[in-house]
Amino acid sequence: MYYPEEIVEEVRQKNDIVDVISGYVRMQKKGASYFGLCPFHNEKTSSFSVSPHKQMYYCFGCGAGGNVFTFIMNYENYSFSEAIKMLADRAGVALPEIEYNEEMKKKESRRATLLEINKEAATYFFYQLRDKHGQLGYDYLKKRELSDVTIKNFGLGYSNKTSNDLYLYLKKKGYSDDLLKDAGLVSFSEKIGMCDKFWNRVMFPIQDINHRVIGFGGRVMGDGEPKYLNSPETEIFDKSRNLYGLNFARTSRKGNMILCEGYMDVIALHQAGFNQAVASLGTAFTSGQANLLRRYTDQVLLSYDSDGAGTKAALRAIGILREVGLTGKVINLEPYKDPDEFIKNLGTEAFDKRMEEAENSFFFELRILQRDFDLKDPEAKTKFHNEIARRLCNFQEEVERENYIEAVAERYHIGFENLRKLVYGYAAKTGLAKEATRLKSGIQSKEKKEDSGVTAQKLLFTWLIEEPKTYPIVKKYIEVSDFTHPLYVKVAEKLFAELETGNLNPAGIISMFTDEVEQREVAALFNTKLAALETKQDRDKAFRDIIIKVKECSYQYHTEQMGRDVSALDKVIKGKKALEELKKTHISLE
Ligand code: GTP
Ligand code: MN
Repeated sequence: MYYPEEIVEEVRQKNDIVDVISGYVRMQKKGASYFGLCPFHNEKTSSFSVSPHKQMYYCFGCGAGGNVFTFIMNYENYSFSEAIKMLADRAGVALPEIEYNEEMKKKESRRATLLEINKEAATYFFYQLRDKHGQLGYDYLKKRELSDVTIKNFGLGYSNKTSNDLYLYLKKKGYSDDLLKDAGLVSFSEKIGMCDKFWNRVMFPIQDINHRVIGFGGRVMGDGEPKYLNSPETEIFDKSRNLYGLNFARTSRKGNMILCEGYMDVIALHQAGFNQAVASLGTAFTSGQANLLRRYTDQVLLSYDSDGAGTKAALRAIGILREVGLTGKVINLEPYKDPDEFIKNLGTEAFDKRMEEAENSFFFELRILQRDFDLKDPEAKTKFHNEIARRLCNFQEEVERENYIEAVAERYHIGFENLRKLVYGYAAKTGLAKEATRLKSGIQSKEKKEDSGVTAQKLLFTWLIEEPKTYPIVKKYIEVSDFTHPLYVKVAEKLFAELETGNLNPAGIISMFTDEVEQREVAALFNTKLAALETKQDRDKAFRDIIIKVKECSYQYHTEQMGRDVSALDKVIKGKKALEELKKTHISLE
């Protein structure tokens, strides 16, 4: 962190979390908290809660949570320093310059300049398109049936035939040759000196999710090689972590995202009203992009070219989506080549229908796989079934795996039990999946539960935050070292210290952690669901159970540690004694 703790705290306190989040999410007050639809996953019922009291948000659906910084970082895809800048600005807090070390400062201002240069270039191309030199480009876009509104929305432009006009234009604005090279817009050659990277192409500015131009794609008008020329990767252009069209798609809230291959596909889809369409940036789809998509949806509809290369790319993308836990479905575009051509020929409604009919990605994979096997030949057929079994093993979750076995068995006319045997036989051989115990009743056993000791520790944290007056009782029995996870210990240390002085500040504790995953975890600790307990007796009992469970868990943990660490012996002996005492003690909340 580059800012002193007090400043971070001041900025946080001056940005009421309810105020800030209200700017992004529509919420309603229910009891002490505000509830709305979670912006980090798709849902129909509101499980996203914001607590004015704790100055925290938490989603009971997807587990997203944190303080006002976490929210801005996640929603805007900002780094911590970008988030604090924005919030300081919003609250009129002046951030000290000096705390930025020199190197950081240089890097930040370089980034800002590179963004500025790209923006200038986009503006330049935009005006070129409207200039008489740009008529060619404009005609081309019109021929591709783009409306003026679409051209404007996507900021499309034209790089003219002169080979160094952009260079001269930017140079006049005062940017150095080195910066212009680093922005990816010009290059140097011995023969002609500095020259533009793009000429005589229609230009597609590539924007990050905050509409900042980070690079360009340029298309030849007509045939010619290469068809598309893209900006090289630069300090501000990471092709594996951005998606074309996501700046619009991220607020589309359609319940899905359409992933396609080309810029033109995205534009055609948006123009037809499918503003949830995105594309990778002239490179293959990456896991960074899959993670980005996961923030906005859990269902991705693939709309790749229907030719061989497109199918291959789709298969790859399905695997990547699966790795980050997203289900992909595949849209069939036959007999057209890509979504752009499909929409032009069959229109919006037909595309809508194809979206509804999109094929489950696993079945899509099997259908493509099947092409390699002659199912009339028993040997090939057996091989095909074996390959299916191998792939079924990849479903980690038992319920899902069983459901797929059932569906595949039906679709390919394989006996259900036979296929199941094949799958688990394969799994046993390779140690891939554990055989599920399928109960006669057909009811599946529940997913693995969280360790009850861990749950108790979380419950205790939440209880302390919601009712700090219980702290004097808690501290009689529980100490910081009773927590069994390094993160919990850190949180407990700070939380206990705050409770000791009566300055409880849970949202501030979150700022101690700069890592997003940790922030999320801490927010979860403070937002465990406490059962609604009516009577004092029930409350006392629940409270006592939690304390005992935490102590038990601590005792167990330190016993296990003892094998490795002799000094733990003392803790174990003390812990055992404390636990025995505790079990005899009546604990009351009052
Ligand atoms: P149109 O032919 O204009 O409709 O393009 P498209 O959007 O249908 O593109 P296509 O399916 O041919 O290619 C998909 C994407 O791959 C494009 O949007 C580019 O990002 C990228 N691409 C295509 N051709 C080239 C190329 O020659 N070089 C590079 N680097 N990328 C390309
Ligand atoms: Mn196309």
